[in-house]
Amino acid sequence: MKELSRKTDTFTDSVIRRMTRISNQYGAINLSQGFPDFDPPTEITDKLAELAKVGPHQYATTWGSKSIRDALARKQEHFSGMQVDPEKEIVVTCGGTEAMMAAMLTVCNPGDKVVVFSPFYENYGADAILSGAEPIYVPLIPPTFRFDADVLEAAFRQEGVKALILCNPSNPCGKVFTREELKIIADLAIKYDIYVITDEVYEHILYKPNEHVYMATLPGMRERTIICSSLSKTYSITGWRIGYVIAPENIAERVKKVHDFLTIGAAAPLMEAVTVGLLFPDSYYEELQNHYTHMRELFCGGLKNLGFSFVEPQGAYYVLVDVSEYGYQKDYDFCVDLAKKVGVGAVPGSSFFKEEENRYVRFHFAKKDETLLGALDRLADIQKLK
Ligand SMILES: Cc1ncc(COP(=O)(O)O)c(C=O)c1O
Repeated sequence: MKELSRKTDTFTDSVIRRMTRISNQYGAINLSQGFPDFDPPTEITDKLAELAKVGPHQYATTWGSKSIRDALARKQEHFSGMQVDPEKEIVVTCGGTEAMMAAMLTVCNPGDKVVVFSPFYENYGADAILSGAEPIYVPLIPPTFRFDADVLEAAFRQEGVKALILCNPSNPCGKVFTREELKIIADLAIKYDIYVITDEVYEHILYKPNEHVYMATLPGMRERTIICSSLSKTYSITGWRIGYVIAPENIAERVKKVHDFLTIGAAAPLMEAVTVGLLFPDSYYEELQNHYTHMRELFCGGLKNLGFSFVEPQGAYYVLVDVSEYGYQKDYDFCVDLAKKVGVGAVPGSSFFKEEENRYVRFHFAKKDETLLGALDRLADIQKLK
């Protein structure tokens, strides 16, 4: 038999999803893969039930139904102040995952380089391989996860660098980039003519006093920023697979074509149903923040009481916990034992770092109180792993 593609030969299966399987195998409380165990807003699910009878059930416009694009443009303007043309500058995709893939395929030629901050969301490695780009990594330095502007500039100076992927707020480290940090990145992107592909799926999950600044709103950045975002996290609908790209017309035009050939379009009834959520008043987003702040206090407060050391997340719903004191050489082995002997699922931090780093495991806390309390109860037995 002839060989299968060399591109995909280098793929490993997703460590995050593998840890979910391991958690299930040992009956562990799964705090590895990031999805909520609470329901989406009833207004959205009620609308879906209504639409099940009346449709739409056939293909929508490939770049998204008019109603969802109009609502997305309004929401983006409301939160960022950006004026977005819903006809020319928005492409609705199958999740933020497809948004990022379509953006990368739009921007990169084989051999181009893409700068990625490390630790990073694991899909970016695969996105780079599929688009033929070579990722180069700039460390976010623990424990504060700041970057060194000189190191970033040296990366941008390399030949063939086309784009930077910016995950803000960051999965896995919970960093929210400040306006000053974004300004440094923006100035360098302009200086070296680099596109910035943002991943803003956690734009509404922030802890006070942190605020989300949209890179595209910084001077000179609108024309070179490709926003990738998602409704998965904002409306607790990770299974609905709805995301979007917002980019200037000349870029969005290309993204539309890539998206059309990748998937044709997102699910028509789901786009209509979630439009109800996009029209929610500000109070929805305030309550969302309050809810996540409650979960962070509950889980991170519990971890603190148990003596764990970690950096408090500023945004998103993950916490990287330092487990070096347990003496494991490989954080993966620690996570398997944690699932098996303690009964809690976590993701080994090494799957997010380019650097050799085995100090951390990542827990996520988008869970009901009883789930988090159950996990904390089991984590009280962590000394078993010493
Ligand atoms: C940083 C980041 N980007 C993208 C995604 C995937 O988003 P979606 O469900 O919209 O594909 C995730 C999911 O965990 C994520 O953490």
